Amino acid sequence: MYNVNLNNLTRQQFLDEYWQKKPVLIRGGIENFDDPITPDELAGLAMEPNAESRLVSQQDGEWQAEHGPFESYDHLGDKNWSLLIQGVDHWDEHVDALLSEFRFMPNWRIDDVMVSFATPGGGVGPHVDNYDVFIIQGSGKRHWQVGSNDELKEVVANEALLHVEAFAPIIDAELEAGDILYIPPGFPHQGVAIEPSMSFSVGFRTIAKSHLFSGFADYIIDNQLGKDMVVDPERQATSTPGLIDNNDIEKLTASLKDMLNDKQRLTEFYGEFFSAAKHELAIDDDIEPFETDEIIDILTEQPLYRLGGLRCLYFSQEWAKGTIYIDGEKYSVSPQLHEPLTLLADNTFVTHEQLAPWLENDEFSQLMTELINQGYWYFNEAE
Ligand code: SIN
Ligand code: CO
Repeated sequence: MYNVNLNNLTRQQFLDEYWQKKPVLIRGGIENFDDPITPDELAGLAMEPNAESRLVSQQDGEWQAEHGPFESYDHLGDKNWSLLIQGVDHWDEHVDALLSEFRFMPNWRIDDVMVSFATPGGGVGPHVDNYDVFIIQGSGKRHWQVGSNDELKEVVANEALLHVEAFAPIIDAELEAGDILYIPPGFPHQGVAIEPSMSFSVGFRTIAKSHLFSGFADYIIDNQLGKDMVVDPERQATSTPGLIDNNDIEKLTASLKDMLNDKQRLTEFYGEFFSAAKHELAIDDDIEPFETDEIIDILTEQPLYRLGGLRCLYFSQEWAKGTIYIDGEKYSVSPQLHEPLTLLADNTFVTHEQLAPWLENDEFSQLMTELINQGYWYFNEAE
């Protein structure tokens, strides 16, 4: 387990003071921090076709970016490159455990843990991200600079890296294991390894309004909604046929708003959309399906773990009806199952004591059999 200290502030004080407002360096945010995954393990993971990996290197100011899977690193030498993998929390439970300290943010708002290994001189260059990130320094030292969020020109020397021009740093520091750098969206930054070093970026997810709109439009089309036509039986004759008049504008706008006012539909859209995993889930292909009786037996003794990266969400207004969203899908259950399913949604693992009162409920045990056989929750075989 990790213990994150946010400059001796409560989570709420941190949010009020810094969240989405200004960057901050937190020295010793995690005491005695040990890398949850080694550079060798990371290099091995980047050979997997499903891991989202990148190699970024630089030679005399010339940047190169390549996507994995990679077969070998022998040609790279020992300077000026870094290997980055998104969504390592999906693959490694020790990396996933880092997120437990950031669960003061709701599941839907958490993106993933990106892990990077960099050789001396390695980094991804000066850039701006449009999401919040806590960069936790692992082994080795890295030099980080963060600039202010004044308008910056993008230098598209390498399109994949979205570089920005050089900036005057407002934070300029060498990070050591356990130091944490919080950077809100829009602040240019760059990290350059001083020694071979690891860093763990806890990234948050949000969405451009245009994508929210297009996501809802896709939902409407997929569900064959809103097929009724905009009609005008009260139409008045016009002498200005080139004009779309204010009545027409209002009618069209009211039609759009009608769709947005359908709270139930919107909730379902949010549930499906935001519970969908952003990176591929590392579901074990060789799961031997369990029988319900076996599941009940195991659950009477062992805790149950949620697969890294799986999102499970619910809404207060729908909960009474027994609706929950898991990995992009809506599940409807009897309202009396609120309690155990809330436990599963709010916690990354549940103990057998917590589940004990529900194990004799057939609906619950069958649903758990389905979810466990799908690989969404699992037992830790070592236990
Ligand atoms: C890195 O770990 O090198 C890049 C992280 C970032 O800048 O967001
Ligand atoms: Co960045």
